[in-house]
Amino acid sequence: MTDHTAPTSSSSPGPGAAPRPATAHVGTALSGTARVPGDKSISHRALMLGALAVGTTRAEGLLEGEDVLATAAALRRMGVGITRDDNGVWLIEGVGVGGLHAPDDVLDLGNSGTAARLLCGLLAGHDFTAILTGDDSLRARPMGRVVAPLTEMGVQTASRDGGRMPLSITGTTDLLPIEYVLPVPSAQVKSAVLLAGLHAPGRTSVVEALATRDHTERMLAHMGAELEITDTVDGRRITITGQPELTPVEIQVPADPSSAAFPAVAAAIVPGSDIYLPAVGMNPARIGLFDTLVEMGADISRDNPRDAGGEPVADLHIRAGSLTGVIVPASRAPSMIDEYPVLAAAAACAAGTTVFEGVGELRVKESDRLAAVEAGLAACGVAVWTEEDRMVIQGCGGPPPGGGDIAANLDHRIAMSFMVLGLAAENPVTIDDVRTVETSFPGFIETMCGLGADISSDQTNDHTDGAP
Ligand code: S3P
Repeated sequence: MTDHTAPTSSSSPGPGAAPRPATAHVGTALSGTARVPGDKSISHRALMLGALAVGTTRAEGLLEGEDVLATAAALRRMGVGITRDDNGVWLIEGVGVGGLHAPDDVLDLGNSGTAARLLCGLLAGHDFTAILTGDDSLRARPMGRVVAPLTEMGVQTASRDGGRMPLSITGTTDLLPIEYVLPVPSAQVKSAVLLAGLHAPGRTSVVEALATRDHTERMLAHMGAELEITDTVDGRRITITGQPELTPVEIQVPADPSSAAFPAVAAAIVPGSDIYLPAVGMNPARIGLFDTLVEMGADISRDNPRDAGGEPVADLHIRAGSLTGVIVPASRAPSMIDEYPVLAAAAACAAGTTVFEGVGELRVKESDRLAAVEAGLAACGVAVWTEEDRMVIQGCGGPPPGGGDIAANLDHRIAMSFMVLGLAAENPVTIDDVRTVETSFPGFIETMCGLGADISSDQTNDHTDGAP
């Protein structure tokens, strides 16, 4: 039995830690099969909901990236037994709804917005004080969006200006059930309210105008919670009845579609590529990128569609093709919110113009992703501009010039997206620091090099010249 008590790698860049640059070079076609790590959103939820069940939840295929390990460490600090057996199965000894203990130190959630926001919902129903913090990126992100509904329910908080962390949260065993209409389409805010509602007597509802990822609802239902989901004129209304006893379950975590996005786009834009990505999550609220790539002319098939513990999965087969620019409507944003940076790499190689509409939320992710994509594409010789919450990319109709130096700004998806772009560009693309890639896609460079990509990284000196 291995006890993972804390994040094990050093990717969360602490003060003074040395950056790890990487350079992606154009090389040969990508080929073969790559196993993409487990879904980050489902992994956080498996740990948190497993912690609230009565008995032992088993999770297979859990993402062992820093974000998820930060959630595990925080839950352990509040009395939850979490271990990993020799077969890689994670065992979560639940303490029951409302059964967490006060943590004896600050909860450091590293780079993870999902950990921070969902934990606020979990802490809401406990009458102790916890203090949450994170790395430079996470401490710059807005927490007011979860604090607002939780305050309505009776929770007390204190934070830096603008609702930024460090944040102290004092919950109550006397939570008020509410009905909350989401002001922004956010699965994290929806989940925080539902997790608080799980602890409140009576029925708590959340209404979302645009459907966001529903992993929390699926897993809660799977564990026996009473949920009612209806379509109303205002959108999807989810109602949870509080204070149930959750039953422990076996969770099979699918490969993360948001991580599969990187090799998938790389294979779509590197000429001659032909790759397989098995058992990728195909939840309809997560697959906007694949729909968009197909609209652009990409050759992607979804083989062997099946169910894995309440979540749809399929094996993806991606072959290179010529892409054409498209308009991506705002209504699709929640189903691909994390995939715009890598779609920008595809748009740079496409013929014609691609427009991302209604993407203002990208300004408050791990970095300001609109600014990072705009600066990065411009540095690689691609014409790009933003107009309020729209981004316009003029495709090169083939390999973009490349040659840029990219600032990743502690943002794993910016780092991976520009490594992907470098594989299809005329000149190498260098990213200043790729350590945060370990938060969501441990072994990304090795996985890509296994498919034949040519990515060199100063620290590991693992320049492969495309050899698998
Ligand atoms: C997530 C929801 C999304 C997404 C994030 C994971 C989740 O954030 O960007 O990476 O697991 O609920 P928002 O809820 O802020 O859109």
